[in-house]
This record gives sequence, structure tokens and C-alpha cells, in this order.
Amino acid sequence: MSRPEKSASSRPHVVVLFGATGDLSRRKLLPGLLHLFQAGLLDDTRIIGSSLDEIDDEKFVAIAREACEQSRGDGADGRWDEFASMLSFVPQQKGAQGLADAVARCEKELAGEGEVQRLHYLSVPPKAALAVVHMLEEAGLAERSRIVMEKPFGTDLESARSLNAELHEVFAEEQIFRIDHFLGKEAAQNILAFRFANGLFEPIWNRNFIDHVQIDVPETLGLETRAEFYESTGAYKDMVVTHLFQVLAFMAMEPPTALAPGPIGEEKVKVFRSMKTIDPSQAVRGQYVGYRELDGVDDESDVDTFIALQVEIDNWRWAGVPFYLRTGKKLAEGARIISIAFKEPPRHMFPQGSGVGLQGPDHLTFDLADQSRMSLSFYGKRPGPGMKLDKLSMQFAMHENKNSDQVLEAYERLIHDAMRGDHTLFTTADGIERLWELSEPLLTDPPPVRAYGEGTWGPNAIHQLIAPRAWRLPFERSWRDPNDSGV
Ligand code: BG6
Repeated sequence: MSRPEKSASSRPHVVVLFGATGDLSRRKLLPGLLHLFQAGLLDDTRIIGSSLDEIDDEKFVAIAREACEQSRGDGADGRWDEFASMLSFVPQQKGAQGLADAVARCEKELAGEGEVQRLHYLSVPPKAALAVVHMLEEAGLAERSRIVMEKPFGTDLESARSLNAELHEVFAEEQIFRIDHFLGKEAAQNILAFRFANGLFEPIWNRNFIDHVQIDVPETLGLETRAEFYESTGAYKDMVVTHLFQVLAFMAMEPPTALAPGPIGEEKVKVFRSMKTIDPSQAVRGQYVGYRELDGVDDESDVDTFIALQVEIDNWRWAGVPFYLRTGKKLAEGARIISIAFKEPPRHMFPQGSGVGLQGPDHLTFDLADQSRMSLSFYGKRPGPGMKLDKLSMQFAMHENKNSDQVLEAYERLIHDAMRGDHTLFTTADGIERLWELSEPLLTDPPPVRAYGEGTWGPNAIHQLIAPRAWRLPFERSWRDPNDSGV
């Protein structure tokens, strides 16, 4: 999937950004909107920021400029003044009428009444989301609109169901875009291209050839500024039930009949339906030493800042193939990999000391980093006398692609898709509800959190969880620099 066509969102738009002065908005959404504008993908648009801060347009523009400078380093040039003239602000305290007036003003500037499409982006904490939804209803702004909902979408099955039910009182399902930014990553979409556009891999993409799969997303960052949010969330709800499971679905699903929202959504839900409920004895929860000292964290907090677990998909393609998932904060390295380990062949024919199998099975690895990469590792003969084997690899880095400068950052891609009404990379209500249903045993009976030190790979119990296999990270060999000719 390449960059979308320029004319795609041709209808004039008013984007209302709730939580416009918050962390996500500053780091990703405002810089992302600027980039879309610079790329010519955001013509005829006005952006209204809203939040609990009582600031005016000028102050909001200053916040946006600082955010863009910090994030992209180019807030001051690249058509900044034009972009700034598209921005305005209305404090949430002005209520439904204040918001309705602000939107009406922008729509008048853009086109005749009734022609402007509205995009409401709710970058607000889950407990504030429904209040915003009802304010939109009261302001008459649900019409001609689409709404982007941030995760976590509920905190368990019951809350997700009631959130969906209440949301549906105001918005029809086709107006709702539940965002999971991992699916907007170029590398995640490339999983679909890689699997379904080639004849080589799909025939071996199953339990007959694959031994196990790892989806590993360690992070080095801590929770200093987000402790309050984390106290009611934790690693499982923040990362696994959202990003890791969505990526798992791309990795595990059957070929959809078309790369379109309906068929992709259906195949993803089928994966979730075939997944076995999460077994708490197959999960390791961890908390980094020092987390309880953060402001806003309970002295006896049981919140997971780390989780590793095994899941199984009981269908014809995957029965018996374990999927190991891991993510956590303050770990040794930051990475986002999917690693597929192939079954090992008989080795008897190789002479003693050849080294066959010594460095683990052959692997296909997807690195979902912003500069994404892919690698296929295999054993090959070391040049010289005798039969000694080394683990070799074929690697591809996205920046080797001549179009790599066209990459849209995940949020940019998804905002643009939502403006065009394209649901392909968004999650569905039934998919999310099914994931909460699967999570119930773990949520009601979680294993105790185990302490782990900053800069480690999590509590020691992660090794028992995966034994006799081993975690792929840290890598034994580093990724190759494409400019370097050595192996
Ligand atoms: C967010 C989580 O959704 O994803 C964060 O709330 C996490 O806790 C982040 O750090 C990771 O996203 P990325 O794109 O930086 O890998």
C-alpha cells in the first residue's frame, strides 16, 4: 500500500481535535496534521482545538508551533503561516453552543452550508470520551461527521459493550473510526503485502512449517508523565489488547477476499474467535522497580508495567503453534519485532562440530520500527575446507526503497484515511469486544506482579514461559547496515 492519492480527501473539512493541548496531540496529531498539509493532503481544512485549558487562538497556535518544532524540527518553515491560519481554539468550558458556533464560523469560511465534512478526533482519557460524544450530539455536530476514538476502548467486555452501545445512540457504525496506530505503521501494512503478493511464503505460513511466533515490543521509556493514566490501565490493556493483538491478526489471518475494510475486518475477527481464552498461568506480569515512587501511583500498586504471555489460535492453520507476546516499560532496548521461527530439519547428515542448528532455527523477522526492516535468516556454508555452518541472512531495509521519503507517519496515514472514510486500517467493535472476552480470565485472576530492574528484559519468569525455546531479543547479530558490504 503506497501513499494515498493527493485528491483523496477533496471535500472541505473541519477537524475538531479534543484534547488538543495534551501529550498525544503535541507529539503526533498536530505535527501529523502539519505534515499532511505540507504534503498537499489537507487542502480546504480548518482545525479547531479544544481542551480543558482556557486559552485563546493565539496561545493555541503557539503551542502547536512549539509541538511541531519539537517533533519535526520544521514548524517555522514549510508553509507554517498558512497552516497556522487554519487553526483556532475553543475551550471545552464554552460548552456545546460555543463549539457549534466555532464550527459554523469555519464552515462558512470554507464553503456553503451543508457541504463541509466534519472529523472529530477524541484524544481524551476513556472516562471523558462519552461526555464529548454527548456534547457533539447537543451541538448538532454528529451530522456530516466522522469520529475517531482513541484506545483503550473500554477496560473490559462489559465497559466496551456499554461504550459501543452509547456511542451508537449518537453515531452510526460507519461514522466511527477506532484507531490503533500500530496498524497505520507502514511496516504493519507491509505484512499484508509480503504475505499475499508473493508465492513463496504463504504456502509455508502454517503449523506444518512454523514452530512458534514472537511479537516483542520492549520499550526503554518509563511512565513519569503518564503514571496516572497507567494506574488505571497497565501494559496488558495499553499495549496487548490493542496493538499486539492487532498485529497478530495481520500476521495470522486467512487471505481476505479483497484488501478492503469488510473482508479484512472479517478475517481479523475470525482469528480472534479462534484464539483460546488467555490462561493466567501462561502470563508473566511485571512492574519496574521505582514505579511505585512516581507521583499518582499507589504505594502498593499492582499495575503491570510489563507483560509476557503465550496465546494460541486453535484453527486449522495455527493449532499447536504458540504465539509469545511481550511488552514493557524501562526495558533494556526499544524494539518492535515479529519473529517467525521455522521448524528445524533433520541434522544427522552433518558432521560433528559443523554448527548446524547451534544458532537456533531459521527466522523471518519483521522490524516494525519507523525505518522498518525485514530479515530472513538461514544456515550456509562457511567458505573454506570441511563443512562448517554459519547463520546468514537476507535483509531488506525500507529506506532502500526509492519511495521511502513518501512514508506517512502512522497517525498521519490514519487521520487521512478517516477523512476519506476508509475503515480498512481501523478496528471493529466486535473484534474489540471479542478481545476483552478472551482477556476475562487474566483480568479477573491476574498473576501477581513481579519486580524487575530498569534496563533488564523483565522478570526472570519470562524464560520459563517460553522454554525450551528462547526469546529472540536481544539479537545475537545486529542488523546489517545496507551501506556496509560485510555479512
Ligand atoms: C501507545 C501506548 O499507544 O503506544 C504507549 O499508549 C506506547 O504506552 C506507544 O509507548 C508505543 O507506540 P510507538 O509507535 O512509539 O511504538
